[in-house]
Amino acid sequence: MGRRVLEPFSIDEFRDFDAESRISRAIVGRDFGDNEASILCCIVFARPATFLQDFRITWSDSHIRQLQGGTAIQLVLDQNSGCGFASKSQYLFGRVSMKIKLIPGDSAGTVTAFYMNSDTDSVRDELDFEFLGNRSGQPYTVQTNIYVHGKGDREQRVNLWFDPAQDFHEYSFDWNHYKIVFSVDGVPIRVYKNHEARGIPYPKTQPMGIYSTLWEADDWATRGGLEKIDWRKAPFYAYYKDFDIEGCPVPGPANCPSNTNNWWEGPLYQQLTAEQARRYRWVRMNHMIYDYCTDRSRSKDAMGIRLMLLYSTVELYTTAVEFGFI
Ligand SMILES: *[C@@H]1O[C@H](CO)[C@@H](O)[C@H](O)[C@H]1NC(C)=O
Repeated sequence: MGRRVLEPFSIDEFRDFDAESRISRAIVGRDFGDNEASILCCIVFARPATFLQDFRITWSDSHIRQLQGGTAIQLVLDQNSGCGFASKSQYLFGRVSMKIKLIPGDSAGTVTAFYMNSDTDSVRDELDFEFLGNRSGQPYTVQTNIYVHGKGDREQRVNLWFDPAQDFHEYSFDWNHYKIVFSVDGVPIRVYKNHEARGIPYPKTQPMGIYSTLWEADDWATRGGLEKIDWRKAPFYAYYKDFDIEGCPVPGPANCPSNTNNWWEGPLYQQLTAEQARRYRWVRMNHMIYDYCTDRSRSKDAMGIRLMLLYSTVELYTTAVEFGFI
């Protein structure tokens, strides 16, 4: 799949979008209501890559609205429902990114998730970004998790260095034979290297779909469930745009996933560049608030503890190498 180039007149900031909707509202002469969003936007702009080309709605049609000619969407959470969408295809290796503008103001108790999942139950592979809402003025938390062959429980949490509800920011997964990198605006916040040689499972055989959901999770999301959702502030809105998937679709050409000429397998993507490593170090030192690797409070059975120690040793080791300590 080709890289999608935005048109020169693309609207890059949400405030432009606000302006646009104001203009459109003026044109049409009525409020920006339930079914009008896409119509309003099409009057002004039409752009190529639309949400519906690569994605479908999986949960609550009525809570996902298409904007800007279908190139952007709005997710809605209210007391009736949250909502979700998924890619039409699954992919094996590649790069997936989208720009997201999270719920502003009081978002405590809400969770916005962007993840990849192999959909294979007990042996599932999964890569998660979960954005945990917070009270007004308190920082959003990004929780990441990785499941490989059905084993998860590898949460890390980072408090973002900007307000993710103010503007759109890019969230991406880079997945190749060497490593998986979770990035925010191109800054790596998590790196999971392929350490199969040390007996650590690595996701490389199961294709994964791309998913996103917005839902209520006030039993755990904010300050461990202490802060409840304030429904007086509902409906809650999150916005998405610039959907970009570059990878090997499955089903698709059988030799694609192992093709070493795929750009995401190239030398630049086999390990972090010096600049990426520097930024990753900066995130871990200044913005990481929780790492399963170093959490001793978790109670587990003996097998769980052994596995966690094994995984966390490898992730810590990887980090140490990345940091130049080893
Ligand atoms: C919410 O804000 C509190 C207080 O600043 C902070 O401790 C917490 O990490 C933030 N995030 C979540 C998800 O609770």
